[in-house]
Amino acid sequence: MKPSPWMMIGALFLLAACNQKAQQAAPSVANEPAAAATSPKHASGFEPPADSSIPSDDFGKQIALGRQIFIDTGRYAKGYVGNQLSCENCHLDAGRLAQSAPLWGAYPMYPAYRSKNHHVNTFAERLQGCFQYSMNGKAPPLGDDVLVALEAYAYWMSKGESIGVAPLGHGYPKLPKPAQAPDYARGESVFKRDCALCHGDNGQGQQAAGRTVFPPLWGPQSFNWGAGMERLDNAAGFIKANMPLSRGNTLTDQDAWDVAYFMNGHERPQDPRFHGSIEETRKAYHDTPDSLYGATVNGKTLGEGVLK
Ligand code: HEC
Ligand code: HEC
Repeated sequence: MKPSPWMMIGALFLLAACNQKAQQAAPSVANEPAAAATSPKHASGFEPPADSSIPSDDFGKQIALGRQIFIDTGRYAKGYVGNQLSCENCHLDAGRLAQSAPLWGAYPMYPAYRSKNHHVNTFAERLQGCFQYSMNGKAPPLGDDVLVALEAYAYWMSKGESIGVAPLGHGYPKLPKPAQAPDYARGESVFKRDCALCHGDNGQGQQAAGRTVFPPLWGPQSFNWGAGMERLDNAAGFIKANMPLSRGNTLTDQDAWDVAYFMNGHERPQDPRFHGSIEETRKAYHDTPDSLYGATVNGKTLGEGVLK
C-alpha cells in the first residue's frame, strides 16, 4: 500500500512527539519548555530519579514493568483496558512531568479521602479507578501484578518526597474561572486551529500500525463519562499546561476553558456507575457545573454514551 499524505503527516508528528518526549526526559534545563524558569517542578526542588537509576534486582523488575504498563497500557495491562489510551497520555513524560498529575506528586498523598467514593482510598484503589474510568476498562483486583508494578513505579519515583504534603507541580493546575462562560463555538475554533491536526477532525485521534500515535479525545475509544478528565476544570488545567503538545502554556485561559468545553461537549462511553437514567446518574455523580453529563450542548443532551 502506498502511504497516504495523512500517514506521512502522522509520521512527521510522531517524530515531533518523540523528540518532545526526549527533550522532557533530558535533565538539562536548557531543554525544558519555556515556562521552566517558573516551573513548579523546579520551585519544589524535586526531580524524579532518572530511568537509568532503576535497580537491576527484583524490585527493579517491578518498577520497570510498572513503567511499561504506564506508557503502553493496552499492551502490558491487557484485559484491563477498554480504549486506545495509555496512562502516559494524560500523565506526560511517563508520569514525571510537573503540572501533568505526576506520579511523584500523587504517591505521597495516599491514603486519602475521596469524595468520589466517600472513603479513604489506598493508592492501589486510586489506580483501580483509573482503569475503570480513564481507561474505560476493568479494575485489576487488589494484589494483581499490574497494580503491584504500578505501585512500585510510583513509590520508586517518589523517594525523598515528604509524605502527606502536596508538592508544587502536583495534579493539574487550577485555572481561575474564565471571564466568559465556556462556549462551544469558540471552543470549536480553538480546536480546529490548534488541536485537530493531531487529534483528528472528529477527535478520534490517530493510530499507526495498531498503536495510538495521537490519543482520541472523545468517542468510543476515549475516556468514559466517569473519568476525571470529563470535568471541565481538570481538562482546562491539563490543556492549558500541556497542549498543544510541546507548546504548553501558550493558550489563553479562556481558550483552554472553551476548548475543554468543546471536547467534553461530545459523547463518550457511558459512566460505568450509570443508574438507568441520565438524570439520576447526573444527580448522583455529576452534580457540578464542571460536568456536561446530562447537559444539552450544541442541541444534544449528553450522557447517552457510545458503544465500543
Ligand atoms: C484521560 C486522561 C487520563 C488517563 C488515560 C489516565 N489518567 Fe490518571 N488522572 C487523570 C485525571 C484528570 C486525574 C485527576 C482526577 C481527579 O482529580 O479527579 C488523574 C489522577 C490520577 C492519579 C492521582 C493523582 C493525584 O495527584 O492524586 C493517579 C495516581 C493516576 N491518575 C494514575 C493513572 C494511571 C496509573 C493510569 C493508567 C492506568 C491513568 N492515571 C490514566 C487523567 C487520566
Ligand atoms: C502536535 C500534536 C498535538 C497537538 C497539536 C495537540 N495535541 Fe493533545 N496530545 C498529543 C499527544 C501526543 C498526546 C499524548 C501525550 C503523551 O502520551 O505523551 C496528547 C494528549 C492530549 C490529551 C489527553 C489524552 C486524551 O486523549 O484525552 C488531551 C485531553 C489533549 N491532548 C487535548 C488537546 C487539545 C485540546 C489540543 C488543542 C488545544 C491538543 N491536544 C493539541 C498531541 C497533540
